[in-house]
Amino acid sequence: MSTTSGRRGVFITFEGLDGSGKSTQMRLLAERLRSAGYDVFESVEPGGTPIGRQIRRILLHEDNTELAPTAELLLMFAARAQNVDQWILPALGEGKVVLSDRWTDSTMAYQGYGRGLGADPVLDVDRIACRGLVPNLTICIDIDPAVGLARARARATEKQDIEIRLEQEELAFFRRVREGYMQIASEEPRRFRLIDGDRTPELIAEDVWGAVNSALSGLGRSIQA
Ligand code: TMP
Repeated sequence: MSTTSGRRGVFITFEGLDGSGKSTQMRLLAERLRSAGYDVFESVEPGGTPIGRQIRRILLHEDNTELAPTAELLLMFAARAQNVDQWILPALGEGKVVLSDRWTDSTMAYQGYGRGLGADPVLDVDRIACRGLVPNLTICIDIDPAVGLARARARATEKQDIEIRLEQEELAFFRRVREGYMQIASEEPRRFRLIDGDRTPELIAEDVWGAVNSALSGLGRSIQA
């Protein structure tokens, strides 16, 4: 089994409410890093591995309305634990820049705050699932929950998506999730960067690039190109 101590790469995660535009920003960053000569590995939670995709379907399928909050938390971490062992630690061991669309901050915000489970169970299970692996940098795209939810629901309708169980939550749930993100930002301002998402994707991408550049130079992995 790989260990978190043997890691040489850089781990950057993206966070934000549904409809925040974080996935677009992660794609733009991946392209830019690759053009600058970095070896980039992209992942997503839940669902970064074939097993994780099966777990994602259970978690997000619109029919699974009876899923209990603690079961939801454990399934989020089950998907993540598989990803840690199968893809993330090996990629970091090879010195790659690993990007993940969501990580444990999502569990803290959605299950810890949104569902009201609190921080302790999230931190406890994170220790088992992630074994000390914490992102070097987290970019959180901050938007008004009502705007994000409207966007996410419109997109789901257009794509006839059935993985929409969480998007069916009421607005108050997403307001609590945002509070969770704000709390993490105040506790870990160096790692967890809030970026104003109420702007054009190009302007947001410039801020993302600035935050990533300064993190990479702090880690001695400055842009090579
Ligand atoms: P996505 O739409 O960004 O792919 O995320 C899927 C949904 O899962 C989204 O509503 C956020 C939610 N989620 C959690 O509730 N807890 C978690 O730990 C993760 C990773 C996602």
